[in-house]
This record gives sequence, structure tokens and C-alpha cells, in this order.
Amino acid sequence: MTNPETQLSEFANSGVGRQWERETAMRVMTAYIAHELNHPLGTIINVANMLSRRLSGPVVSPKDIGEHVESIKAEAIRATSIIRHMRMLTEHKPTARTSVSLVDVCSDTIARVASLAKAKQVKLRFVSRAARPKVYGVKELLETALYNLVINSIAAVDNPGIAKRRVIICVAVQDTNWTTIQVLDNGIGVPEGIRDKVFEPFVTTRADGAGLGLAIASDIVRWHHGQVSNRPCKSGTCMEIVLPRE
Ligand SMILES: Nc1ncnc2c1ncn2[C@@H]1O[C@H](COP(=O)(O)OP(=O)(O)O)[C@@H](O)[C@H]1O
Ligand SMILES: [Mg+2]
Repeated sequence: MTNPETQLSEFANSGVGRQWERETAMRVMTAYIAHELNHPLGTIINVANMLSRRLSGPVVSPKDIGEHVESIKAEAIRATSIIRHMRMLTEHKPTARTSVSLVDVCSDTIARVASLAKAKQVKLRFVSRAARPKVYGVKELLETALYNLVINSIAAVDNPGIAKRRVIICVAVQDTNWTTIQVLDNGIGVPEGIRDKVFEPFVTTRADGAGLGLAIASDIVRWHHGQVSNRPCKSGTCMEIVLPRE
């Protein structure tokens, strides 16, 4: 009788196996794009609603309208770039990498989550323990990875039992070759039962969760030849991105 490993490898190399692999890749890519498009589309809806409220009010300044229109435009551009980058990630297409400052990745991501953090009464802190460490990659993708970690942390501290809700983003240099971004929170912590599989797609404990944020973050960081891990910590959660320095 053939052993299970041989059977698996025969299946993977068969026509049906290859078709199944392609279909799985398609399913994951479609889910990734849908998941990531939700963020800019949500912002576009919020800003557009805000704008129409302003327009029906008594005084509207052209500057105010201009700012809202600009932010709608920026999010729409982000949406198109997400589609391009997510395809690149899942189809393993080569792309133009550039020198990216991790401090810029952090500050731009923090700017994007600032209003959500404020609404949830979460104090966001940024700590830079290194002078502008750089990596070689795609800035928008690295921001997408970090964004997913930070919104998880905000969700984890958004709990009635947590009075002082804190999320810290810390950039540091590990040694001559590696640099890190840690996202620390004092939230509920990753549930014991899913600790070793949180980076797999479709693993979630949230009623409205897709279970894709960490899988996307992990794929993006691996694409940059790095790794994301859930570091042991006394309370809350510490997610760490490790990336090769430029
Ligand atoms: N900072 C965190 N604190 C506690 N649990 C977390 C944190 N980040 C991730 N998790 C756990 O990992 C699961 C998977 O996260 P993710 O892949 O982002 O999917 P989703 O947010 O849609 O559930 C979450 O449902 C949650 O249980
Ligand atoms: Mg998430």
C-alpha cells in the first residue's frame, strides 16, 4: 500500500492536483483583495458622508471641500494600488522595489489609523530606537502588513475590561543585517487554541473577522525575505516583523 506522503505528492503532481492548487491560489487572492479593499472603501464612504453633511450645512469653505475631495482621491488611488500589489504578491510577479524607510512606513500607517484609535480611546505611541533603518521593498505593501497588525491590536484592547488601552509601535535595529517593527498591546492576548495557526488564512475568533489580516501580513513580510511572529510576552500581545536591512 502507498504511504500517505506518496499519495499526497502523486495528487499534487496530477492534473486534478494542479487544478486544485490553482483554484486555492485564486480563492486566497480574491479573498486578500476583497479584505484589503474594505479599508479604503470604508474610508471613502465615511469621508463622502462627512462631505455631504457639510454641503447641506450653513457654511462650507472651498478649502474644506477640497480637503475632503483630496482624501477621497487618495483612498481611491490606494484601492487601485492594492489590487496591483496583491496580484503581484499572489502571482509572484517581479516588481520594482525601492529603498524604504521603516520610520516612514510606521508614521504613515499611524496617520491612517489615528481616527480609529481616537474613536476607540486607544493611545497609540511610536518609539524609534534606530535612526531611520531602511529595507529594500515596496512601501505600500509594508504599510498594509503593519496596518493589519495595528488594527488587530486596536481590536484587542477595545474591551470594556481594559481601562488604559495602549498600542505601541516600536522600530529597532537588531544587528547589522536585521531590523524589526514590534506592535505591542495590552489587550486580551491571542487565544491559546489558535496561537500556532494565526498566520494561516481564514483563522479567526471574531464574529465579523475574515481571518486574513495576519495571513496577508505574513505573506508580505515573507515576500520581503523577512518573518512575522507572535513573541511571547507577559500580558497582551507582541507581534514582531523582522526584515533584512537594505
Ligand atoms: N493583537 C492581538 N491580540 C489578540 N488576538 C489577536 C491579535 N492579533 C490577532 N489576534 C487573533 O488572531 C486572529 C486572526 O487575526 P487576523 O488574521 O487579523 O484575522 P481577523 O482580524 O479577521 O480575525 C484574530 O481573530 C484574533 O483571535
Ligand atoms: Mg485582523
